[in-house]
Amino acid sequence: MKKIGVFTSGGDAPGMNACIRAVVRSCIYHKLQVYGILRGYNGMISGDIKELTSHSVSNIIQRGGTILKSARSEEFKTKEGRAKAYEQLQKHGIEGLVAIGGNGTFTGAELFHAEFGIPIVGVPGTIDNDLYGTDYTLGFDTAVNTALEALDKIRDTADSHDRVFFVEVMGRDSGYIAMECGIGGGAELVLIPERDDSIDNVIHTLREGFNRSKTSSIIVVAEGEEIGNANSIARLVKNKLKHLDIRVTTLGHIQRGGSPSGYDRTLGSRLGLGAVEGLLNNLTNVMAGMVNNQLTYTPFGDTIRKKKHINEDLMRLVHILSV
Ligand code: F6P
Repeated sequence: MKKIGVFTSGGDAPGMNACIRAVVRSCIYHKLQVYGILRGYNGMISGDIKELTSHSVSNIIQRGGTILKSARSEEFKTKEGRAKAYEQLQKHGIEGLVAIGGNGTFTGAELFHAEFGIPIVGVPGTIDNDLYGTDYTLGFDTAVNTALEALDKIRDTADSHDRVFFVEVMGRDSGYIAMECGIGGGAELVLIPERDDSIDNVIHTLREGFNRSKTSSIIVVAEGEEIGNANSIARLVKNKLKHLDIRVTTLGHIQRGGSPSGYDRTLGSRLGLGAVEGLLNNLTNVMAGMVNNQLTYTPFGDTIRKKKHINEDLMRLVHILSV
């Protein structure tokens, strides 16, 4: 293998730049040419591809976002789109790919490999931390820290006014961010899609807290929570507990931006090298991940279809520490 392409796809995540830098420099170390593909699969289809040098990735390890830009490509979901992408790769002589992204990215990669046989190694890049085959995904640690900074500020005002706050954090189908924010932010309750929650239990928890002379409470709600979003849950609770002064904050995309944490920089760097060396060792259709601090490769089929389970001990911790 002489030429490798790297791209970022799906929602951006802090640490993607650290990973791109590691891919580029690992390629140079191993005497490979490396090409950056812009805007994920869209850039592959349109041929928005440029050679990267060591200099192209200097001064980016500390930057949030992705210098290669990102997108969720509709065209790549079609056979014609994927055929165009393959033509472009051939035109540039690219023989292997490093795909940095989440579930959707790997679903596309698995299909692309099946149709055209090009070797692909993935790197888990999503703040949601919902990928099987790695303890942490790139960006998760930073997103949790960003959300915690906001939660601390909310706690100050909640406490001053004796209010109940429902704080919604990201996690399309997963509660990892919510759970860690619940622990680190000292929340009374965490609502996540992986568990069966109920409005009755929210009300019960709040009542119990106030009976134990709590004057303010924070409830962290994952975006993907099944009983509703933070606003609708807050409305239902207010209907039953009319005396409560309730406010809602949705943290939104601030969780996706910002300078990556030390952990995400190291993780991105390790996985970037792991992906390149995986390709050089003839691996394909796998995601490079970190399990128990060891580099591992998990087949795309497992990362896409197997469910990463939430750690029940952590949920128990939220419950016990909110007494
Ligand atoms: O997958 C990462 C994520 O931030 C989810 O938590 C969220 O649901 C989604 O992306 C938002 O995507 P977009 O930026 O396309 O609205």
